[in-house]
Amino acid sequence: MKGIVFTEFLELVEDKFGLEMVDKIINNSDLESNGVYTSVGTYKFSEMLQLLQHLSSYTGISIDDLLLVYAEHFFSVLEESYPGLLATYSDPIEMISSIENHIHVEVRKIYPDAELPSFEVVEKTENSLIMIYKSSRAMHHFGLGLMNKTFEHFNSTATIVLENLKEDGTEVKFLINKN
Ligand code: HEM
Repeated sequence: MKGIVFTEFLELVEDKFGLEMVDKIINNSDLESNGVYTSVGTYKFSEMLQLLQHLSSYTGISIDDLLLVYAEHFFSVLEESYPGLLATYSDPIEMISSIENHIHVEVRKIYPDAELPSFEVVEKTENSLIMIYKSSRAMHHFGLGLMNKTFEHFNSTATIVLENLKEDGTEVKFLINKN
């Protein structure tokens, strides 16, 4: 997992819960990196999982809700870092349906070792989209947060329903309807 995902995560934790919480979740985890991350480095996903698990147990907030809020923050990082990529789009359905064959293709050119999910388009109309998310990392709520912000970016909103296709969350159907 790319370092920018860790550095932005820890910044948000510091903002919302304070530096003490950052220290607590790092010190309680068994981290190869020792909790020292740079935005251009690459680290094990298992480190992110440990940080999320500890933050979840200290705050009582579920991992899914933490990922959702984190993704909403991460979207503004993407907006600042990749304005050109977002400017290619004028419609949220078009943008979200292009993650697999355009956006993440570009991401892979920048970060050849990025660990990206697959997002297969099953059905697409002007105002609706059905997609299947697949990833061993089960970060579907991270995807949900990014989608919510994508609609907001285009001054729109949507109702998005998630249906687990596998119990462990590694395959999830997204039913997206523009409001
Ligand atoms: C992960 C970039 C848009 C869904 C990532 C990662 C990067 C990235 C750098 C981390 C990869 C790693 O840690 O190895 C971008 C950029 C975008 C964009 C630059 C737009 C300009 C989106 C959108 C979605 C999305 C709109 C909405 C569904 C995800 C998910 C992950 C991810 C779910 C987590 C990895 C996983 O589930 O396996 N993306 N992304 N991305 N992205 Fe994107």
